[in-house]
Amino acid sequence: MTYGIGLFLDLISNSQLDSGISFVGCGSATPQKIINNDQLGQRVDTNDQWIKSRTGIGERRVIGENESLIDLATKAAMNAVKMANWDVKTIDLIILATSTPEDLFGSAPKIQSNLGASNAVAFDLTAACSGFLFALVTASQYLVSGSMKRAVVIGADQLSKWVDWDDRKTCVLFGDGAGAVAMETIADESGLIGYDLKSDGSKGGCLNLSQSNVFSELVQGATHQKGEYLPIKMEGKEVYKFAVKEVPIILGKLLDKYKINSERIDWLLLHQANQRILDAVASRFSIPSEKVLSNLKYYGNTSAATIPLMLDEAVRDQRVKSGDLIACSGFGAGLSWGAALFYWHGPY
Ligand code: UT7
Repeated sequence: MTYGIGLFLDLISNSQLDSGISFVGCGSATPQKIINNDQLGQRVDTNDQWIKSRTGIGERRVIGENESLIDLATKAAMNAVKMANWDVKTIDLIILATSTPEDLFGSAPKIQSNLGASNAVAFDLTAACSGFLFALVTASQYLVSGSMKRAVVIGADQLSKWVDWDDRKTCVLFGDGAGAVAMETIADESGLIGYDLKSDGSKGGCLNLSQSNVFSELVQGATHQKGEYLPIKMEGKEVYKFAVKEVPIILGKLLDKYKINSERIDWLLLHQANQRILDAVASRFSIPSEKVLSNLKYYGNTSAATIPLMLDEAVRDQRVKSGDLIACSGFGAGLSWGAALFYWHGPY
């Protein structure tokens, strides 16, 4: 399988990299409980027709009492490791992209221990809905530098904990889930062609899960801040405009940089936030709808999980095949966004 020596040399010369990367496994896990649009319509003033036509979402899944984010993330990671056919002891790195850890000190080490990946270092990374892409690029730095050989990157979120279920503007959008990829170094041409990541904190107020700023007296003359968060707040229209403007720009620049015509893209794999955003980006690159991966209908926006959850579904149902070129972009709170071009190398 060849990916063009030019791309490989470009990656090396740009970043002084020692080796390439191969995406060899993926996995996912979702909660059992399904909540459909009609059920939400019993709680807030909304309906199936509005939600489907404005977002493409038909239902979402919510973590219930006998499940946990760490359980889902562990299952997703284990499925990716099994697909890659790795011994867990050979994993060097586990990054959990999440904005909703079970422990603010980090949930990744618990996943490392659940997996039995005793030789891996594990840490959390937060970049909201861009988190998976940011984590994938972070892992790639360890791999291409030669300091590590095998990494599992997980995107997992439980936004149902932080959604205001009485706010119809946000509650219809989000769901829970987990996805993961297994990536390793290879001596020859890299499956990761290139990437770019961006942040714009000046627009961070458009989408928040911020602390509540409640202070109480600690001792006389000194207060302390109580650890509490407010529910998710979003200026939907602003985030929408940001996404349909910035995603085509970042993806277009990447395609230009690597001289890839959009016709060569096998799959457009975007953060699953709104079907209208997927359609707008696809139309900007004249990518036909058959090449646009979407599972919004079943899961809604699962934040850091959407990209690997979608990839896993499309790999396991054999839409995405080994050697396929994937154009990927994540975007969301921060504001943050990013894009990557990569070849899927997995066994399917
Ligand atoms: O993952 C992070 C990235 N997040 C995103 O990318 C989200 C980006 N934003 C969006 O996807 C869209 O802006 C939304 C789906 C959030 C909203 O769609 P919209 O077409 O921008 O609707 P809107 O907020 O302008 O609301 C239009 C109307 C309003 O009524 P009026 O003022 O025109 O009478 C809303 O009150 O729709 C109303 N509305 C609803 N009606 C029924 C808002 N939410 C609902 C609802 N059910 N759930």
